[in-house]
Amino acid sequence: MSQSFQSQLENMDGIYAALFSAAEEIYAELKKGVGLKFATSSNESGDDQIEMDVIADEAFFNALKEDGNVRYVVSEERPGLNKISDGPYSVALDPLDGSKSALVGIPSGAIFAIFENAETAPDFNGKNIVSGGFFVFGMNLEVYFADGDKVYGGIFDGSDWSVLPIEGGLPSAEILSINAQNQTVWDEWLQRHYACLFDTKGGREKPQNMRWYASMVADMKRMVLQGGLFAYPSANIKGYEEGKLRLVYEAIPMAFLIKAMGGSSTDGERSLLEVPVETLHQKTPVFIGEKAKIDAVEAARKA
Ligand code: F6P
Repeated sequence: MSQSFQSQLENMDGIYAALFSAAEEIYAELKKGVGLKFATSSNESGDDQIEMDVIADEAFFNALKEDGNVRYVVSEERPGLNKISDGPYSVALDPLDGSKSALVGIPSGAIFAIFENAETAPDFNGKNIVSGGFFVFGMNLEVYFADGDKVYGGIFDGSDWSVLPIEGGLPSAEILSINAQNQTVWDEWLQRHYACLFDTKGGREKPQNMRWYASMVADMKRMVLQGGLFAYPSANIKGYEEGKLRLVYEAIPMAFLIKAMGGSSTDGERSLLEVPVETLHQKTPVFIGEKAKIDAVEAARKA
């Protein structure tokens, strides 16, 4: 591989090179159909695990352990903090997000967040993140991320990456990505807001379009390219009290990227970048997208 991306942050180029080369390895395996079998085990977070989840985790871990700037690696597939070196940065990963969607041919991907000053679980928070984004394993191998305050998109052509700045901010579209399966047990404020978003009699000029891949990276790629609102709320049902998505390696990196594009995020009350981290695998309700749509969610909760 040839990876020419140069970070504006010190000592980060090697970490990006490791992430990019692991993503190439995983994508090559996925293209061969390797590891795509239904679950036989579950991971640290209690989610079903397919063989490819483990292969992806190992690919990232093996690549990152060669870099002297990585202190800890945290992964959805591993219990705690995995010490690599005394370097300044720590990397949190969802090595194969949307793996169940990958089983049926929907794009999956990997989510990454790079933190500084991270020594214990609570340090993997939205104040210490310096880079965040995701790879897409779809028709092509792609990457979208914020390196500090700069946003990039890239594509791999089989031998080289072309990574270019994304400028112009977050686009705008009347798109809502949500799994509405639990709507009868959502909090009442959200049931009301949801009904209002889809109220075709409400005189709205542009009705919402519902889009749900059940693969966060695929839904977030659409967000980066078109705009909208992505939501995975909590529900008053066992297992969904804090939603489904993980704060450290799903919500925070996506919120960081979308903020760098001029968008916003909330858990309903505050930015996802301000939610205190207690444990590495904790869940959080997630709303990410255009600022006006996030403001409307927070206003609906307060109303
Ligand atoms: O966290 C895993 C994940 O697959 C996300 O990629 C996706 O947004 C979500 O879960 C889908 O959840 P559900 O299967 O409940 O729609």
